[in-house]
Amino acid sequence: MQQRTLGRTGRSVSVIGLGTWQLGTDWGTVTEADALSVLEASAEAGVTFFDTADVYGDGRSESIIGRFLAAHPDSGITVATKMGRRAEQVPENYSLENFRAWLDRSRQNLRVETIDLVQLHCPPTPVYSSDAVYDALDQLVSEGVIANYGVSVETVDEALTAIARPGVATVQIILNAFRLKPLDRVLPAAKEAGVGIIARVPLASGLLSGKYTKDTTFAESDHRNYNRHGEAFDVGETFSGVDFETGVAAAEEFAQAVAELRAEWKIDNEALLTPAKAALAWITQLPAVSTVIPGARNADQALANAAAGSVPELGPEFNAKVRDIYDRYFRAAIHDKW
Ligand SMILES: NC(=O)c1ccc[n+]([C@@H]2O[C@H](COP(=O)([O-])OP(=O)(O)OC[C@H]3O[C@@H](n4cnc5c(N)ncnc54)[C@H](OP(=O)(O)O)[C@@H]3O)[C@@H](O)[C@H]2O)c1
Repeated sequence: MQQRTLGRTGRSVSVIGLGTWQLGTDWGTVTEADALSVLEASAEAGVTFFDTADVYGDGRSESIIGRFLAAHPDSGITVATKMGRRAEQVPENYSLENFRAWLDRSRQNLRVETIDLVQLHCPPTPVYSSDAVYDALDQLVSEGVIANYGVSVETVDEALTAIARPGVATVQIILNAFRLKPLDRVLPAAKEAGVGIIARVPLASGLLSGKYTKDTTFAESDHRNYNRHGEAFDVGETFSGVDFETGVAAAEEFAQAVAELRAEWKIDNEALLTPAKAALAWITQLPAVSTVIPGARNADQALANAAAGSVPELGPEFNAKVRDIYDRYFRAAIHDKW
C-alpha cells in the first residue's frame, strides 16, 4: 500500500483510506459485527485513514470506530471526523462554543483526547470565508482538542477559498471518473499550497463498480433511494450528482475500458482488476491526491478496495478513455454545478 503525506497535517496515511458513512444508517442496514469487520479488514490490509462524521448514524459510525481504536491502541490509524451538520445550517452556528460541544461528543464517541483531524462538514458557503471560524479552530488546536482541521466542500470555489487559509490542512471533495471538475483548478492549487486532498464518493456511490443496471433498486433507508433527486441533502452526494440511468450507461463503458486494459495486461482473473479497483486506482494516480476514501458495507468490499492501492499506472490511453466518457455523458450536465 502506497503512503502519502496528508497535506499540512504532516502525517503519513495510506493512499486508500476508508469512508465510514455506511457504518451509520443512510445506506440500509449494516450490522455492528459487519461494521467492525470492515474496520478490521481494512486495517489488516494496510489502510491507515478512516473518515467519519458526528452525524453518520447520529454517532454510531464514530462509536464503532471508538470501539475499534480501544481494541487496537497501536493501530496507527488517523481518524478524521466532521462536525456541523447536527445543527441548523446557518453561519452563526459555526461558533467556538458549538465547536467545543460537538467535539466533546466526538471525542467521547471516538474515545480519544485529541481528534486527529476535524473537518467542517459542508457548511453554508460564507463559513469558508469567516475569520472568526478559523480563529476558533486555531484556538482548539492550541488547546489540544484537535490536532488539525480541514474542510469538506461541495464546490470547487469553496475548496479554493479554504485552500487559501494557512491553517487548513486538508480539503475533502467529490472526485471520481464521473466528477472531473476538481482536476482543473483545485488539485493544482492544493499541490502548490501543500493542502491534502481527500477524494470522497470515489465510486460515485457504487456506480463505478459497474454492478448496477437501470432496474437496480435500493432499500428505503438508503440515500440512493430517498435522495436520488436531492430530496434530503445535496444531490451531488448521491451517485455524485449524475442521473442514475445515465450513470449506469457510462459505467458500462467504463467497465469495457477496464476489460480492454485487462486484455492488454494479459490478466485473466477479473478480480485482479475490477472496474471498482480501476476507478479507485485512477484517483490515486492523480497528482495532489492524499487519500481516497471508498465506503464499504462489508469486509470483502473493504479488502478489494484496499488492493487498489497497489495497481500499476493505468496509463495515458486509459486516462483518455475516462475523459472521453466524462465529456460525452456528464460534462454538459454537471461540470458547472459544483
Ligand atoms: N459531505 C461529506 O463530507 C461526505 C459526503 C459523502 C461521503 N463522504 C465520505 O466519503 C465516503 C465515500 O463515499 P460514499 O461511501 O458515499 O460512496 P462511494 O465510496 O463512491 O460508494 C460506496 C458504495 O460503493 C459500493 N462498493 C464499495 N466497494 C465496492 C467494491 N469493492 N465492489 C463493488 N461495489 C463496491 C457499495 O455499494 P453497495 O452498498 O450497493 O454494495 C458502497 O456502498 C463516505 O463513506 C464518507 O466517509 C463524505
